[in-house]
Amino acid sequence: MSTGTNSTPLLLIEGLYKAYDRHLVLKNINLAVREHEVICLIGASGCGKSTLLRCINLLEEINAGAIYLGGEAITSGQVDADRIRQRIGLIFQSFNLFPHMSVLENITLAPVKALGISRREAETEARTLLERFGLEEKAGEYPDRLSGGQQQRVAIIRALALKPRVLLLDEVTSALDPEMVGEVLTIIAELKALGMTMLLATHQMGFAYQIADRVAFLDAGAIVEEGPAKRVLSQPEHPRTRQFLQQVLAASPLSPAATDDRALPVEFAGMAPFAERG
Ligand SMILES: Nc1ncnc2c1ncn2[C@@H]1O[C@H](COP(=O)(O)OP(=O)(O)O)[C@@H](O)[C@H]1O
Ligand SMILES: [Mg+2]
Repeated sequence: MSTGTNSTPLLLIEGLYKAYDRHLVLKNINLAVREHEVICLIGASGCGKSTLLRCINLLEEINAGAIYLGGEAITSGQVDADRIRQRIGLIFQSFNLFPHMSVLENITLAPVKALGISRREAETEARTLLERFGLEEKAGEYPDRLSGGQQQRVAIIRALALKPRVLLLDEVTSALDPEMVGEVLTIIAELKALGMTMLLATHQMGFAYQIADRVAFLDAGAIVEEGPAKRVLSQPEHPRTRQFLQQVLAASPLSPAATDDRALPVEFAGMAPFAERG
């Protein structure tokens, strides 16, 4: 997968500040995400990962700075937030599927409503996505008939159905039983192999090591270290990064499997890559 020659970042965050009342939770965040790049946000609980993702998805108003998507300032207040949210998918820890709708209805709802495509076309595309990610036989099921891992995979497919330019994933495996984490991480690895641009908050350091091009470590609302994933995770430079990684890796080390590049599926036969989207 080419990383593209276009040097304009797909997503650019400049000098972002966010406060709740007087509590400053994001401090001068600067981050550029290029097309096809995968960036992992790591850091202790409460450091601001979710707030940053919510600001990017325009669910929070920012106090200073700017966010650009494909060069367009999306935080100017002039933009239609719904239009931007179609281009920036956000997937939460809790799957948030509509319980009274089938898998197929969950996936087709937004494309029909927001993109104005026909139900028939939306269903065809939804079935293609379900098939691509091994869930075709679940199209008619209701969410409560699915495992947590399957529900989260459906939530990811639902986001993909809007053909977003960027996916934001917020601790998407945190609510899952351990045996289901793998199937969700696999779909994310598949998306990377297909060229999807992603910014994800994660506590899974082994996965970040495998999948991320770059890692940004947040501490108390600021990015204190950012760089190539393998360098930051194995040779952190900032004392705070070192301290954080020592703590989390003591609990769950970068396993041999996690540090083995061969463990990452890099090619998926028969899958068309995500096209560059204007
Ligand atoms: N809606 C809110 N109102 C007030 N404070 C909030 C709100 N959401 C988050 N915070 C605070 O912002 C900080 C960052 O939280 P969060 O972005 O959820 O961190 P993380 O996702 O890294 O755990 C925390 O101190 C949290 O308590
Ligand atoms: Mg969070």
